Amino acid sequence: MSDFKTYHLGEYTCRVTFCTPAEALQVPAQKKALYISDSNVLPQLQAIVGQPLPVVAFKAGEEAKIWSNIELALMRGFDLGLGRDDCMVGVGGGVVCDMTAFAASLYMRGCTLVLAPTTLLAMVDAAFGGKTGINFGGYKNMVGTFYPSSELRIAPGFLSTLPEREFRSGLGEVIKHAMLDDPELWTFLHDSARSIQSRDMAAMEYMVRRSFDVKGRVVEADLREENIRAHLNLGHTFAHALEAVAGFGLWSHGEAVAWGLHAAVRLSHRLGLCPKSWVSEVEQLLQLHGYRTQSGENPAALLHAMKQDKKKKAGQVRFVLQEGPCKTLLRTVAEEDVLAVLD
Ligand code: GLY
Repeated sequence: MSDFKTYHLGEYTCRVTFCTPAEALQVPAQKKALYISDSNVLPQLQAIVGQPLPVVAFKAGEEAKIWSNIELALMRGFDLGLGRDDCMVGVGGGVVCDMTAFAASLYMRGCTLVLAPTTLLAMVDAAFGGKTGINFGGYKNMVGTFYPSSELRIAPGFLSTLPEREFRSGLGEVIKHAMLDDPELWTFLHDSARSIQSRDMAAMEYMVRRSFDVKGRVVEADLREENIRAHLNLGHTFAHALEAVAGFGLWSHGEAVAWGLHAAVRLSHRLGLCPKSWVSEVEQLLQLHGYRTQSGENPAALLHAMKQDKKKKAGQVRFVLQEGPCKTLLRTVAEEDVLAVLD
């Protein structure tokens, strides 16, 4: 595993390696390891590693993100005699990465954490940046910690077998990263749409690296979301409302984010912040990759869901808006302006 980059996230150092799937799953040298995965990924994990591993595998899906599963992982670590210098290795998508990181942050006040994300969404977003957690009290990611992995193994090879829906879910976040801080990635997403859609490996590798770097610059500057990390929520206030109103599962997270990105730039234009040309560019790229830019949901219901979200955060929601590519800002917005872009 020769190709790596080191990021400094607060007091933590995260070594990110670009590698093959087999390398991503290697047992860390001189450490005892507990692997944490899910029922979808487990067969692939066992086939690649080819030897029995100590593993906890949750039932795949968002429902697994509960405290009793964290307890299960902690108990297994205890039974295996893992020490603080030993490690938990998360192999899977966003749910597995969030949970492994949460369990590792608690075990003996923090054991070594290695993550090997297997989905595009987890590679470019969930596994990187130190946010960990579970759902609690009916809310997503309500309980958690900040605990960056000491090693992050990115194997774009996993993307060749990823179901289409999962792939498009991650691509929404890649588009977001390009809008936030990477005009070259933006052009690539436009000019190389065919290679991306056919999962050409060189295209995957380029796209993941660029997208990853955008997030890297942000989380290095603001690990605990005290300022610019909030920009990573571009499109997400809209997306969370859509997921809540349409019912989780009808829209994948990335599809909802894509719709939310369009709504965010439309709102920016309505407020006189960005030119119409940026709205058209965003719309064109989203449609090129097959995303819906109209939700078909009731605007009043979407606004209501946003207000619930606001309550959860016990404060005012500031929208992430844009003056154009790479020019992002936060602002509170009147309800009638939000309502006008909800369709
Ligand atoms: N997914 C947004 C963040 O990591 O802050």
